[in-house]
Amino acid sequence: MKRVVIAGGSGAIGSHLAKMLKAKGYSVAILSRFAKQSSDFEYFTWNIDTKTIDPNALVGADAIVHLAGANIGENRWTESFKREVISSRADAVSILATELKRLNIQPKVFVSASAIGYYGSVTTDKIFTETDPPGTDFLGQVGTIWENAVNEFKSLNIRTVILRTGVVLDKSSGALPKLLKPAKFGLASPIGSGKQFMPWIHIEDICRMYIYAIEHPEIQGVYNGVAPEFLTNSQFMKALAKVLNKKTFAPRVPVFMLRLMLGEGATIVLDGSRVSAEKIRKAGFNFQFSEIYSALNNLIKH
Ligand SMILES: NC(=O)c1ccc[n+]([C@@H]2O[C@H](COP(=O)([O-])OP(=O)(O)OC[C@H]3O[C@@H](n4cnc5c(N)ncnc54)[C@H](OP(=O)(O)O)[C@@H]3O)[C@@H](O)[C@H]2O)c1
Repeated sequence: MKRVVIAGGSGAIGSHLAKMLKAKGYSVAILSRFAKQSSDFEYFTWNIDTKTIDPNALVGADAIVHLAGANIGENRWTESFKREVISSRADAVSILATELKRLNIQPKVFVSASAIGYYGSVTTDKIFTETDPPGTDFLGQVGTIWENAVNEFKSLNIRTVILRTGVVLDKSSGALPKLLKPAKFGLASPIGSGKQFMPWIHIEDICRMYIYAIEHPEIQGVYNGVAPEFLTNSQFMKALAKVLNKKTFAPRVPVFMLRLMLGEGATIVLDGSRVSAEKIRKAGFNFQFSEIYSALNNLIKH
């Protein structure tokens, strides 16, 4: 049985991925800031501030998945929160690399999350591919520092994969439950101009992509973790209303209101360009949900 250690495995993507891996016969260990007991998975603790990790956490790891990171959508972007966003991702990688060196073990693969924010928060018609340079705004800087840290693993001769992830659609976490609440009352209104693109991916597909990266030795480097369909925020909201059988379309959510409520972080809902899924498709990955109606029907009606 192969052993996968998931750093940040108690979060939205990690908990889903852990279940999928277990169902496939993997043994799964979760690395968390908090001690937990579970009959399904082993839990180990670490502390990124003090750079400490349970000495048994990585023992026997065939694959390490890095999903840990302070949630950028849940807090105002103060200077101290920005530092936490970066250190919870990049310093976390250094702790894992240092621990592997100490143990003198070499997992076959290290797969890390990154985000499409790497390309910067802009609304254009451009289709971003993996070779495009990073943006210069905060999310572009986070992506650059995070991915540079992950590339440390290359020097340990460990196959390294980075999945630049779009908005993950899941019925119980992230953006969808927040958008569903008003939509159920006929308030599925576009956010801001509604023209910003919203690269998205079904939770099942992003987890399948992690497993694909673990199981396919030819997968290496950076891949965009987004569905192949390009969708603006307005089109997404229309699809949501249709799937919910709601015809009403309320006025747009004004930009100033969002900036007031969310501050600088409002950019994650107000801006967005197209992001290509071609590289991972060409590498043989098949999406289960490549268009929004099938994804939303699956998430909302099942
Ligand atoms: N979900 C999305 O739509 C999406 C989109 C693009 C990129 N991503 C990226 O993919 C990764 C996983 O996403 P997710 O949605 O599963 O995130 P999540 O639900 O917020 O979970 C992330 C996990 O990271 C750990 N964590 C939180 N704050 C931390 C801190 N300050 N220091 C260390 N660990 C911390 C937590 O685990 P413990 O509490 O157990 O320590 C948490 O369960 C994240 O890096 C995220 O930025 C997600």
